[in-house]
Amino acid sequence: MKKIISVVGARPNFMKVAPLHKAFANYNSVNGNSIQHLICHTGQHYDEKMSKVFFDDLELPKPDFYLGIGSGSHAEQTARVMIEFEKILLSEKPDLIIVVGDVNSTIACSLTAVKLGIKVAHVEAGLRSGDRAMPEEINRILTDSISDLLFVTEISGMENLRHEGVPEEKIHFVGNCMIDSLIHYLPKIEQSNIHSELSINDAKYVVATFHRPSNVDNHEQLKEMNSLLNFVAEEKNLKIVFPAHPRTIKNLEAAGLLGGLSKNIILTDPIGYLDFIKLVKDAKFILTDSGGIQEESTYLKVPCITIRTTTERPSTVDIGSNYLIGDRFTDAIPVIEIIMKGENKKGNIPELWDGSAADRIVKIINKSHVS
Ligand code: UD1
Repeated sequence: MKKIISVVGARPNFMKVAPLHKAFANYNSVNGNSIQHLICHTGQHYDEKMSKVFFDDLELPKPDFYLGIGSGSHAEQTARVMIEFEKILLSEKPDLIIVVGDVNSTIACSLTAVKLGIKVAHVEAGLRSGDRAMPEEINRILTDSISDLLFVTEISGMENLRHEGVPEEKIHFVGNCMIDSLIHYLPKIEQSNIHSELSINDAKYVVATFHRPSNVDNHEQLKEMNSLLNFVAEEKNLKIVFPAHPRTIKNLEAAGLLGGLSKNIILTDPIGYLDFIKLVKDAKFILTDSGGIQEESTYLKVPCITIRTTTERPSTVDIGSNYLIGDRFTDAIPVIEIIMKGENKKGNIPELWDGSAADRIVKIINKSHVS
């Protein structure tokens, strides 16, 4: 029997590993339990609202290994994951580890595995923002450079990896595991009561999420963020659901900016997966700096305004409903006017975002000689 360990660390990882776990279970039901698929949670995100609720919503089993890493500087977090994950690898001796996305746990676990001669598969490989000031960009480049199997979500990822000289046989265009989760759970998402819970049943509303250091670790940017949110809430008379990341709340509080938000802004704790996607699905538009939400809104064909200078997910702009407007919050206003007039681009769904990415990955892993 082959032993595979998938790593989850932070919130955006859970919805990528959930469909893989289901695909391995399906494979085993047909092929007589030939793969043991285990899950290691590093604990980079650790509280109920950033972690546990996702295991419940996505029907993930309790992790087989929990490393309890928690917060810290990048070096501390990465180093602690490596030390604890090495112990797991030495005792479990897996044939392959699977890492997803671009968080610190992704590079920490892949680096630990390759040094022990254990093969690594990277899901969501090849994405590049071109901005090396983003910690995630460094994590992506390094993880791809040491992985044995590179599973790619969009055409730009294939081009980036080829451009970096990655051998063709390592690269596989499989589609998007995060969209697998979205498609799988759509019927349950529809049943969410989040609109009643937030008293926005008949309201037109916007969803806002901001957590990138470039936006929320900077006092001026935080003030600009608040001004834009207040403009939308007051001038456009739209409710705004703003589920704030712990980093964002901490920084708004420290800057004394929490009091200045319009009454039309519903500031909440982080929201669980099913409820959050329901909110996105029915929103008038999205204001964000997230990576994953650019993809989820593209699949749902909801206009998204991304307040960043770069995106590692260009298909959401070229094909989907995403607008990348740069890092000045005021530059969102002309796009908001276009959306309010109904003149926004409608967007299409990128190739292979069809709910079957995890099945493709499991098939390729089985055919490959790496595990
Ligand atoms: C991380 C990822 C980022 C991803 C984001 C999604 C890296 C480098 N960054 O950023 O790619 O888009 O997650 O959420 O890996 N905190 C809590 N509770 C938690 C988790 C975090 O209070 O459950 C607090 C921590 O104390 C810390 C802050 O949030 O101060 C940031 O957490 P951290 O893991 O450092 O990075 P994120 O900003 O969440």
